[in-house]
Amino acid sequence: MDAEQLIQKYLEFFEKKGHKTLKSDSLIPENNASVLFTTAGMFPLTPYLMGNPHPMGKKLASVQKCIRTGDIEDVGDSTHLTFFEMLGNWSLGDYFKKESLTWSFEFLTKELGINPDKLSVTVFKGDENAPKDEESTNIWIKLGMPKERIYALPKKDNWWELETGPCGPDSEIFFDTGKKSCSKDCKPGCSCGKYVEIWNNVFMQYNKLREGVYKPLAKKNVDTGMGVERTTAILSGKKSVYETELFEPLMQEIKNDSKNYQEKSARIIADHIKSATMILGDERRVPPSKTDQGYILRRLVRRAIRHSRNLGLQYFTLEKIAKKTIDIYKKRHSSIEKSREFILNELKKEYEKFSKTLEKGLKAFEKISGNDVGGKDAFLLFQSYGFPIEITKELAAEKGLSVDEKSFNAEMKLHQELSKIGAEAKFKGGLSDNSEKTTKLHTATHLLAEALRRIVSKDIKQKGSNITPERLRFDFNFNRKLTDEELKKTEALVNEQISKSLPIIKKEMSFEEAKKSGAHAEFEGKYKEKVFVYSAGDFSKEVCGGPHISNTKELGRFKIVKEESIAAGIRRIKAILE
Ligand code: SER
Repeated sequence: MDAEQLIQKYLEFFEKKGHKTLKSDSLIPENNASVLFTTAGMFPLTPYLMGNPHPMGKKLASVQKCIRTGDIEDVGDSTHLTFFEMLGNWSLGDYFKKESLTWSFEFLTKELGINPDKLSVTVFKGDENAPKDEESTNIWIKLGMPKERIYALPKKDNWWELETGPCGPDSEIFFDTGKKSCSKDCKPGCSCGKYVEIWNNVFMQYNKLREGVYKPLAKKNVDTGMGVERTTAILSGKKSVYETELFEPLMQEIKNDSKNYQEKSARIIADHIKSATMILGDERRVPPSKTDQGYILRRLVRRAIRHSRNLGLQYFTLEKIAKKTIDIYKKRHSSIEKSREFILNELKKEYEKFSKTLEKGLKAFEKISGNDVGGKDAFLLFQSYGFPIEITKELAAEKGLSVDEKSFNAEMKLHQELSKIGAEAKFKGGLSDNSEKTTKLHTATHLLAEALRRIVSKDIKQKGSNITPERLRFDFNFNRKLTDEELKKTEALVNEQISKSLPIIKKEMSFEEAKKSGAHAEFEGKYKEKVFVYSAGDFSKEVCGGPHISNTKELGRFKIVKEESIAAGIRRIKAILE
């Protein structure tokens, strides 16, 4: 079954269940400053999920085009994309859990013929804000889901929300790809790729006013989402979304034209040029620019150009990818056909603009990169050669170096590039969001760094870090794979500090004083004047800009989910708090 047939089948199925089909909305949200792009099918429905009556009724469905840049660093694996389409069905104060889960299961197993033995599900485990979702558990049992394939997971897995607005617990459906489990704890939600999330049923019962503050909604809604690309890959027996008809023609062009083919670069190029084409060709046309959506677009195109250079590709291949993208999507999203000329012109202009500085910038990078890349150098690459920070980071990572992003951001601020800083925060969903979840993971990162020093090697230094509300990522210097025992001991040492309820104390001092006090400082020598030192009891002490929580007891259980190599001599750990 191809994507078009899947979409038809889905919309017909929900029409039969009394839903009206909505047209896909624009990728560019109207009147909303908090997000730059439509990231889910529910987004255009926000006012109706909050209680306003929708002109088309209480049961709705759609296939919505979406852009998500938060997962950009995972693009290149078999399931993560920056542009994707989401199938969704909604109940605005009409049906609730029973119908929602029953129809999802019926559609997947009866209409699509997916073997129910390949499916497993998750439900919300409960916390101080909302109880365990027993109702969904019982519905799944009645639908025939074996108890051992129903997993109750915490908020980070089974709660859906944006910064504010309608939100609630969810129940997700996973497809087992048949890959070997990565560990004995491997289960839905694990990032190893064995379980692919294909459908999310969100039970929107709350309005999130701010971090941690939830008010019950007058009406209970259902918001569901199913990924078109992932489901198409499963239905056609493909190992990755890049092998489906939604990507295969793009990948073929890259394969044919490459002098030095590399799968990961090819995937990044196909994904980013597709997203760029969809943004340029949106009904609210956006050209590349220095701010907001235009700047994200510029970054996607420039990253694709940089990877194209590695493969020995010229502009005409990128143009062919844009044209193939138009062919694939023009039936469902007609604005891209109408904007064909605009898309190709803007793409070419951006290519020419960046090509002028790319080679010089790469040479400049070679000169400065004897050591880790400081903020000033990263800023110079940005200002003089138009290198978005992720290009500099990628170039650095390829050499096993890190980039001082904090001081890069400080340089940006200094130069009054405020709009770009804003775009940066919205683009990455990184620590800049300062939410409770990222703050906790930030504190956990300090504990992890110290635990690694104590268990694995005292010479371990931070080489990079990125934190989203879902997980922390910590890069460090070490020249071999960590053993299972080292990982277990590190995890246990962090959990021991959590259970000791260590207070986190912040002190301001000069960098010299900080060093004398034994605080660890990354990017040595680059700090000026006053710095903050955060200590967790007697366990860890680091120079850091914060923010942190006030006591380790707030963290929950720490768990390492992945350890891998990212460059010569650099390892990466991903970890979560449960
Ligand atoms: N809003 C939910 C999601 O994006 C369901 O569509 O997963």
